[in-house]
Amino acid sequence: MRIGVFCSGGDAPGMNPCVRAVVRSAIAADQEVVGICRGYHGLLNEDFFVNAAGHPLMTARSVSDLSKQGGTILRSSRSQEFRTLEGQQKAADILRKHAVDALVPIGGDGTFHGAVDLMKLWDGQVVGCPGTIDNDLIGTDYTIGFATAVQTAVDALDKLRDTAESHERMFVVEVMGRHSGYIALYTALAGGAEVVAIPETPTDIPDIINRLRKLKERGKKSIMIVVAEGDENGGAEKLQSDLIAADCPFSTRVLTLGHLQRGGTPAPADRILGTLLGEFAIKSILGGHSGVMAGQVGSSLVLTPFEKTFGQHKPVPQELVSVLDAMAH
Ligand code: F6P
Repeated sequence: MRIGVFCSGGDAPGMNPCVRAVVRSAIAADQEVVGICRGYHGLLNEDFFVNAAGHPLMTARSVSDLSKQGGTILRSSRSQEFRTLEGQQKAADILRKHAVDALVPIGGDGTFHGAVDLMKLWDGQVVGCPGTIDNDLIGTDYTIGFATAVQTAVDALDKLRDTAESHERMFVVEVMGRHSGYIALYTALAGGAEVVAIPETPTDIPDIINRLRKLKERGKKSIMIVVAEGDENGGAEKLQSDLIAADCPFSTRVLTLGHLQRGGTPAPADRILGTLLGEFAIKSILGGHSGVMAGQVGSSLVLTPFEKTFGQHKPVPQELVSVLDAMAH
């Protein structure tokens, strides 16, 4: 078989270990791998990875030393052209022209939407791997990149706490998560934040002010509020101005972490998850599966139809919200 691998959408730390696992597992099973650069955009431009010998096939050496590298050597993008039917037809024709039998897309919900559209026009197999920092896909406990993004955000929170404590201030820290509170909730819990604002729970300004006043009375000198970029009330700037307007008892500063969370050396958890799922994706293709995402639920590796992975909002564990509230004392 000739198997194509590509990364698409927002990059995530751990995509490289996943590419490495796809390439090495396929080669170990005597299959060929072509690397498609720049996601669907690159596919439409026949932008293939070229190995050290100048051939458009990936070798075991093409992925040497990738476990510890952030970003993705295949690069990533978001393609407007691929969203059109003409673009999808062109992509299917290109896959046929290059005799590609199967694909492993590594990405998030947009990537898997694209895979579903492509499969209507192309009869090759597609088994995806969940590569996104957002952890918003159903069918896997964690997505590749989430653990590193949380670690980066927690490092930032730890540093901000030092200066907040010195100046007796409050920080409102915005983390990524377009529609999901996962990064915010895990960051807040690990970083000992007093308040978290996420799209899954209502952000109630009078209630937050009330809690802040009580914390001040109990002698708290510094406060950390973590807000998800997708919070229904808006991001950190909006939350800060709402709190100031409601007579916030602490002096405040805002920090938006943004794309910082997408970079850096992948945490061991993301390296292992990327490796396990990349290997499982190849085994699944060789076992005849298609139209599914490889994921890990508990200690089992499982396959979930693409439509199910993005069909519903993945709920955050509500018990973590309660624990966070109990810790803020
Ligand atoms: O989906 C991953 C993500 O990092 C989101 O958390 C964020 O909203 C978005 O990508 C940012 O996308 P871009 O790279 O286009 O700025």
